[in-house]
Amino acid sequence: MRKPANIVYLNGLYLPVEEATISVMDRGFLFGDGVYEVIPVFGNKLLRLDEHLNRLHNSLHRISLPDPHNNEEWAGIFSELLKKNDGEDRAVYLQISRGVYAKRDLTIKAGHAPTIFAMVLQVTPADIEIVSAGIAVITVDDFRWNACDIKSTSLVASVMLKQQAVAAEVDDAILIRNGVVSEGTASNVFLVKDGVILTPPTGSQLLPGITRDLVIEIAENSTIVVEQREIKEAELYSADEIWMTSSTREIAPVISLNGEAVGSGSAGSMWKRVMDLYQRYKQQLRSSNEK
Ligand code: PDD
Repeated sequence: MRKPANIVYLNGLYLPVEEATISVMDRGFLFGDGVYEVIPVFGNKLLRLDEHLNRLHNSLHRISLPDPHNNEEWAGIFSELLKKNDGEDRAVYLQISRGVYAKRDLTIKAGHAPTIFAMVLQVTPADIEIVSAGIAVITVDDFRWNACDIKSTSLVASVMLKQQAVAAEVDDAILIRNGVVSEGTASNVFLVKDGVILTPPTGSQLLPGITRDLVIEIAENSTIVVEQREIKEAELYSADEIWMTSSTREIAPVISLNGEAVGSGSAGSMWKRVMDLYQRYKQQLRSSNEK
C-alpha cells in the first residue's frame, strides 16, 4: 500500500516533506535560536489552540522575535495543513526560528524574516489499558537554564536528561533542582497526597504546560483540591500517586520511582478519576463545533 503523502508547511508553502529544505545558515540549525509548539488534534479539532498560541506569543516575546502571524492566520495555516494530510487524532508541530543570516553572528537584526515550519505528528491514541499500566522513572539533576518557561528549540539539555532515563532502562526522568521538583524531560509533574493534587507553580523553572492547566481546571471543576506549590524531592517518595502530563502523553501514571513502587505500585484512583474527566473533555471537543 502506498504511504500517504506527508505534507508540511514551510514559509508560506505546503510541500511534501522531502521537498521542504532550509539553509545551513538558518539560526535554528546553527544556534537552536527558535521556539516551538505541539498542539494536539482530536477529531480534527485543535485542543486549546488559543492557549497554545498565547504560550507561543510568550516564547516569541521572551526571545525578542516578533510573531509573524495573528491567531486567525495561524488557525488558517493549521487547518489547511490538517486538510492536506490524512488522519483524525494527531498533533501539529510548529517551529519558528530567527531565520537565515549571511554571517554566523549571535547579534539579532530587527526586521529579518523568520523561518516558519509546521508538520503533522502522528500520535498513538491513548489506549487506557496500556496507559494505566504506568511508567517507570528516575530522578535526575535539572542542570538546564533559568528560562524553562520558553518553549525553546535549544533542547540539547533535555536530550541529555532523557538519555539518562534511557541508560537506566526507564521511561522518563523527573528533574530536580536544588532539592525541588521542576518537571519531566518533556512533561509536567503532579503528585497526589491524601486526596489533594499537587503540582509545582509556574515560573522560570518549568514550561507552563497546556495539559497541566487543563488537568487543574477539570479537577477543580469537579471540586477536587489542587495546590500549586513547591514540591520537595522527598515528597515524591511519600506520594500516593505521581503523574506526568503533556500534549502527546496526556496523563501518564508513574508506578515506579528510582526502582521503588509509587503508592500501591499501580495507577491510582485519583488518576482514574482525572483521566476519565480528561477523556470526556476530549470527547466533547470531538463533538463540538469549537476549533
Ligand atoms: N512537550 N514541560 C516540557 C519541558 C515540555 O517539553 C512539555 C511538552 C511539557 C508539557 O506541555 P504541554 O502540556 O503543553 O504539552 C512540559 C512537548 C509535547 C514536546 O516537546 O513534544
